[in-house]
Amino acid sequence: MSEFQPKILGFLCNWCSYAGADLAGVSRIQYRPNIRVIRVMCSGRVDPVFIINAFLRKIDGVMVLGCHFGDCHYLNGNYNAEKRILAARKLLSLTEIEKDRLYLDWVSAAEGERFANLVNTFTERIKNLGEIKINDGTKEMLLAVKDVLEGERFRHLTGVEYQVTEKENVYGEKIPVEDFEKKLEQILYEEYIKARILRLLQNNELTIPQIAQKLNTALDFAFKCVCSLQENNIVEMKGIRNGYPIYSANKY
Ligand code: FES
Repeated sequence: MSEFQPKILGFLCNWCSYAGADLAGVSRIQYRPNIRVIRVMCSGRVDPVFIINAFLRKIDGVMVLGCHFGDCHYLNGNYNAEKRILAARKLLSLTEIEKDRLYLDWVSAAEGERFANLVNTFTERIKNLGEIKINDGTKEMLLAVKDVLEGERFRHLTGVEYQVTEKENVYGEKIPVEDFEKKLEQILYEEYIKARILRLLQNNELTIPQIAQKLNTALDFAFKCVCSLQENNIVEMKGIRNGYPIYSANKY
């Protein structure tokens, strides 16, 4: 049987990492041929939704490479990329797709050798993880992650994180990174469960215990999420079944 050759997608920033890859090429540094490159102007341009789309299309691993901190041509692009990609990795860890399939690092225009080493190491890591498996269950999970990534809360929180944790908020306060990260993790989990519930209720009428069982989550948490969706008029109660209210998604 032929050896598994992972499909790897690399988002490389134009000013540093792409030039680093170019240097590896002109210097004839050998590296694994599994990577296909998309050149972006800045690592901050990489919307995590692109990454989920890649996994949905059975790309085995995704690398995002940008300029080192302090070298971004758009000043904060790589700081924002770091916040977003790390948050996307947290969301991935809620699914059956290993978060190690997503990798973020920094390569300068002078680091052709470093680029080649990172590609080789990542390719080896993905080979060890094996081919990505997208069945109906994992597809639903990835689509729910995508819903969260496209959502207002994810975009707002990851968009302000650098400013409020590294500099200061409008009240002149600096929020400790750990506190922000902890809160962000809770919010992302809640958003993810809400996205999964909404997907379940699009074609089914279900009670809270049925939802909690399908999503393997606590009853009170499932109830809290459904109430939040109901408050926003996204789901509604359709009646009572065996003494429990049943819910379904509103059709727009
Ligand atoms: S320009 Fe390279 S990371 Fe922003």
